[in-house]
Amino acid sequence: MIDLRSDTVTTPNAAMRQAIAEAEVGDDVFGEDPTVLELQAEVARLLGKEAGLFVPSGTMSNQIAIKSHTQPGDEVICEIGAHILNYEAGGPAFHSQVQLNPIHGRLGIFTAEQVEELIRPQNVHMPTTRLISIENTHNKAGGTIFPLGEIHRIAETAATYKLRMHMDGARLMNAVVATGIPAAEWAAPFDSVSLCLSKGLGAPVGSVLCGSADFVQQAHRYRKLFGGGMRQVGILAAGGLYAVRNQVADLAQDHQRAKRLAEALSELPSVRLNPDEVHTNIVILGVSEESGTGVAIEERLGKEGVQCLALSKQQIRLVTHRDLTDGDIDNAIRAFRKVLS
Ligand SMILES: Cc1ncc(COP(=O)(O)O)c(C=O)c1O
Repeated sequence: MIDLRSDTVTTPNAAMRQAIAEAEVGDDVFGEDPTVLELQAEVARLLGKEAGLFVPSGTMSNQIAIKSHTQPGDEVICEIGAHILNYEAGGPAFHSQVQLNPIHGRLGIFTAEQVEELIRPQNVHMPTTRLISIENTHNKAGGTIFPLGEIHRIAETAATYKLRMHMDGARLMNAVVATGIPAAEWAAPFDSVSLCLSKGLGAPVGSVLCGSADFVQQAHRYRKLFGGGMRQVGILAAGGLYAVRNQVADLAQDHQRAKRLAEALSELPSVRLNPDEVHTNIVILGVSEESGTGVAIEERLGKEGVQCLALSKQQIRLVTHRDLTDGDIDNAIRAFRKVLS
């Protein structure tokens, strides 16, 4: 099977497994796992932040960040397609008792003016705007990169209104590799940044939530409260460390393959797709109603040995990742031509 459903399907390779097998471990709830401490320090350094916290998932990382920045009744500004809004099971309402106020962006990207329009005045009838969350790269919009210049403009607005800034940087390293802009530059305007190790970077588990020492101390308490304290978890952190040290540059290959896939599929008459809008490793294509629904096409492709994800009635998502080969991309293109012809 050629699995194009997600970059989360990547499995640890032999070298990563060896690093995992050899990891020094201790009880991380006592703060005594040397490999976890090393990973936290290394990712914090990479992002130019004072401290980092290893957490089991990207979802927990975002939810802890929201909990740490807000009070019940607050409001969080995000984009309409944001992961925190669509795919975290209503977490902001459940864990933090906050509401989300979404912006309709273009390709997941919004402007400082759009943010300013949503900021609430001081008024007893209204929630308190507290946090702006930016997803970079943006999953549901097709791996798009949020322009750094616009992030700086939004950060100025945030400073004016005393709002906090969080980045869901599940795939931040894709933006780093695609633009050549260092991770710390992307992270600088944010109070907190969540980086996933288990997506294109290829580690089996985990994210690191970074910010100031005070923020991470608060986040640490919420990790415990959310049940995310883990014991000899250096065996997982070792996979993450290996990924951060050795597998970042490989993301460039995922981007090239996504572009090639997008260019080939955009030539099919029943497909709506602009390859210029494919910035990194995610390709989202619109399919005409005559070709069938996304779910029906997903099924037909499955029979041809290609797994993809129907995102909505007429949309399909394809994600390239390190466990694929160039031949897999050729075969996937062939399968699409057959299924959609
Ligand atoms: C942008 C984004 N944020 C957060 C997450 C959540 O990560 P996890 O699946 O580790 O909870 C994902 C997962 O795909 C994601 O795409």
